[in-house]
Amino acid sequence: MTQPPDTPAARHERILILDFGSQVTQLIARRLRESGVYCEIWPFNAASEARIRAFAPQGIIFSGGPASVTEGESPRAPDHAFASGLPILGICYGQQTLAHQLGGVVEGGHAREFGRAFIDVTGDCAITQGVWAKGAREQVWMSHGDRITELPPGFRVVASSEGAPFALIADDARHYYGTMFHPEVVHTPHGAQLLRNFTHLVCGCTGDWTMGAFRAEMIARIRAQVGSGRVVCGLSGGVDSSVAAVLIHEAIGDQLTCIYVDHGLMRAGESEQVVSTFRDRFNIKLIHRDASELFLGQLSGVTDPEVKRKTIGRLFIEVFEEEQNKLGGADFLAQGTLYPDVIESVSATGGPSVTIKSHHNVGGLPEGMRMQLVEPLRDLFKDEVRALGRELGIPEAIVGRHPFPGPGLAIRIPGEVTREKADLLRQVDSIFLEEIRNAGLYDAIWQAFAVLLPVRTVGVMGDGRTYDQACALRAVTSTDGMTADVYPFDMSFLSRVSNRIVNEVRGINRVTYDITSKPPGTIEWE
Ligand code: XMP
Repeated sequence: MTQPPDTPAARHERILILDFGSQVTQLIARRLRESGVYCEIWPFNAASEARIRAFAPQGIIFSGGPASVTEGESPRAPDHAFASGLPILGICYGQQTLAHQLGGVVEGGHAREFGRAFIDVTGDCAITQGVWAKGAREQVWMSHGDRITELPPGFRVVASSEGAPFALIADDARHYYGTMFHPEVVHTPHGAQLLRNFTHLVCGCTGDWTMGAFRAEMIARIRAQVGSGRVVCGLSGGVDSSVAAVLIHEAIGDQLTCIYVDHGLMRAGESEQVVSTFRDRFNIKLIHRDASELFLGQLSGVTDPEVKRKTIGRLFIEVFEEEQNKLGGADFLAQGTLYPDVIESVSATGGPSVTIKSHHNVGGLPEGMRMQLVEPLRDLFKDEVRALGRELGIPEAIVGRHPFPGPGLAIRIPGEVTREKADLLRQVDSIFLEEIRNAGLYDAIWQAFAVLLPVRTVGVMGDGRTYDQACALRAVTSTDGMTADVYPFDMSFLSRVSNRIVNEVRGINRVTYDITSKPPGTIEWE
């Protein structure tokens, strides 16, 4: 995936991150991007000398990883990374392999140190400048079993703890640094500043990666790619396809047509908002196809979650193709693909991972569609897409919106999906979201939604007995959807929402709050 010369990478200072399989490697890249430095993540074994030379980074970071340097087959950094003369920062496993490869000693069998730890800063170096003072005790986040017991020549200790005597090491002459802890996670409170010192002070980056610059460069690039061709874009109402559409429209105007396939399983008011935003405000050519009859018809009798997903995915492609054919075809298909979707993954075990759910992204490339792709967001993380969306003037209601799954409310209605159930769920969902917004909690939550439960329960209203449906509320915090924690609402908030739902939504007489984290649960119920 070496970038061609006219990509954003070629126009900006850049850092290379070699991935050794840590769960948090992406966070290194996000911290760097937040400080205005373009960076890419490559598997440690995909960084040939020629490829690194072509990428021409200002510095290299070795990520953490699950292996142990003391095991024979464990991964190593390529020797040419050291021969390049570039500054290097090794984090956790990255520090251990750096030490081992440069002549130090790493030993296993020590007590595992996991989570919050405190280290004593015993010296100073470029990484700690202006952040940690000599003599201070600082909080960090550790996750390791092995540790260095003998430093390689040229290195000295800058910070240590009882469990990790070589918590931060430096070789100032060669600009090599290593941390036993993870500076990229938020539980190392000054971690982002330490990383910034590496990129700015050690590697000489100035922070020239901004969404304003990206916008102008990408518009020129889209024009060069598309020429006078025609582009179609599947809008879903979500952040990614919306930002891609507005950016492409800014580049090529009416050569772009957006197709919004409305499966009838969107949240309350969402379809109207898509039409008013894109057609009326941005003047984008938009086909709004109400295909709810078709989708709900084909979902009739379907209860299996995977069959629901596959049915919706198949119909989406059929309807999209139909609309696209009516247009007389197009030369390009625009997609809101993001950087996390294209990072080459490195597997610690080499084995295949288990499919928990077949996530299909509405707007994905229909198989057999012979069109070139326009993917203007492939270099960006989600937070960067949001920043770009704001730069483009897209309303906050779209740019800051919680993620919403392609199959929509269908996977929040366990059992058979019907229009009546979807209508009921929309009412519950919008009360929950309205209360969350009123309480000022929307941005603190990754995703919040309601689930319509396939059970009826007994209740009492006024003097009468009710026998109606129950619903569940779900709200989680997360950084990437891979893991999630339950949002700890006050009881008074939950009671207010529950009262409103039971009083205002006919057909619901019981409200529950789902307190399962992920893992072991998943965010969606199906
Ligand atoms: P789970 O339920 O697997 O969800 O914990 C993780 C994230 O993915 C979203 N999700 C989907 N997104 N198509 C999508 O585009 C899908 O089929 C799908 N299923 C789950 C979910 O909303 C959460 O953000």
